[in-house]
Amino acid sequence: MAEFAVFQIVIVSAFLFGLRGQTVTVNMQSSVYSNPNTDLATLRCDFGIDDPTFSFLTLEWTFGSTLIADFFKTTTPTYYDFCNTPAGRCSATRTSSNSELVLSSLEFPRDQGTYGCRVTYVSGSQTPNKQNTSSLLVVVPAALVTLFNASGGTFTNGSVVKLSSEVSEHIFTCQVQNINPEATFTWTLDGNPVDSGLISNPVHDVGADSLTTSSSNVTLEPKREYGGQELKCKAVNYEDDPGVMISVTLIVDPCDPNPCYNGGTCSVMSDGITATCECPTGFEKPLCETKVPTTPRTTPPEPTQPTGTDGKPTTVPTTTSTTPPEPTQPTGTDGKPTTVPTTPRRTPPEPTQPTGTDGKPTTGK
Ligand SMILES: *[C@@H]1O[C@H](CO)[C@@H](O)[C@H](O)[C@H]1NC(C)=O
Ligand SMILES: *[C@@H]1O[C@H](CO)[C@@H](O)[C@H](O)[C@H]1NC(C)=O
Ligand SMILES: *[C@@H]1O[C@H](CO)[C@@H](O)[C@H](O)[C@H]1NC(C)=O
Ligand SMILES: *[C@@H]1O[C@H](CO)[C@@H](O)[C@H](O)[C@H]1NC(C)=O
Repeated sequence: MAEFAVFQIVIVSAFLFGLRGQTVTVNMQSSVYSNPNTDLATLRCDFGIDDPTFSFLTLEWTFGSTLIADFFKTTTPTYYDFCNTPAGRCSATRTSSNSELVLSSLEFPRDQGTYGCRVTYVSGSQTPNKQNTSSLLVVVPAALVTLFNASGGTFTNGSVVKLSSEVSEHIFTCQVQNINPEATFTWTLDGNPVDSGLISNPVHDVGADSLTTSSSNVTLEPKREYGGQELKCKAVNYEDDPGVMISVTLIVDPCDPNPCYNGGTCSVMSDGITATCECPTGFEKPLCETKVPTTPRTTPPEPTQPTGTDGKPTTVPTTTSTTPPEPTQPTGTDGKPTTVPTTPRRTPPEPTQPTGTDGKPTTGK
């Protein structure tokens, strides 16, 4: 019968303990980032003891298993060693429902880890406690972001990169080194998100110093639509991080495939993205798609679609939008290029001498 009595006591204690567990709560955010601009981290512990028969005993802050600050029945904390190297780098406050611990002079990785808040209260002759924890991430922001290709050629910010049609896939790697925690990446083309299917999962390598190198790849085919677009990579690694970014302007060969009709010869203009066609005798317009009329006209003919009789597509490639036909173009009958030269024609300077009403110079008399 004695064994049965012990068994009953265990059940009753478990029942009481369960009730107490519902009365006292200690809440903390599961992870907190330090602020790299102020070199501070703020940890907050919210607690509730909503049974009037309980009284508050202590609130303790811990780092791992080390006690760092302690409020014993008061709102004035006692600090321990952790807070004194350098001196005074902890400061804690406590109200009847929360406590905040501010850490300064943070060092990675020394101060990164699990911080605990433990509330001990008096319940009859017992002093049970409740605790919760937060993991602090001591932020080491990215100093630099680099962009390079599959053979390690690095691209300077704002440079122009050609997507050669001889390579079917151009891999761009965006990388930030020596950071904590790892970075997330955003790739855009002219401000629009790059299709996620072109982006590989980022890779995070942790070095011996516990710092991370994060990399992300985007793979682009040498499509004409990318010509002139800005490819940008942005990396962020903490809350409210403005991020580091780097961008390049992509160019593709506008003559590959040849956009010129009727045997026209394509050449690339100095901007690197615009094609011009040198048309064979008898054809004109930017893409040599129009037969030159035999009788001269005072107004140029309306643009017409290529006939397609030569088996080429009858739609005009998108690059034509950058070379609109000029009404003052030469006819092209001599086989010369039908687009304007890149250097604008200069008008001859006006005579500097004013003239009188008779048309003769008014000076020098
Ligand atoms: C810790 O706090 C969170 C709220 O931030 C809460 O959801 C969780 O239940 C708490 N954990 C414990 C063991 O009290
Ligand atoms: C990026 O592509 C290169 C090949 O060019 C590969 O070696 C590297 O592992 C890739 N990195 C990521 C983050 O996918
Ligand atoms: C990488 O870039 C370098 C420098 O721009 C270039 O010479 C090289 O051909 C490129 N490699 C690939 C695979 O695109
Ligand atoms: C690249 O240039 C942009 C715009 O000027 C700038 O915001 C960014 O910080 C630069 N990135 C690097 C890595 O220099």
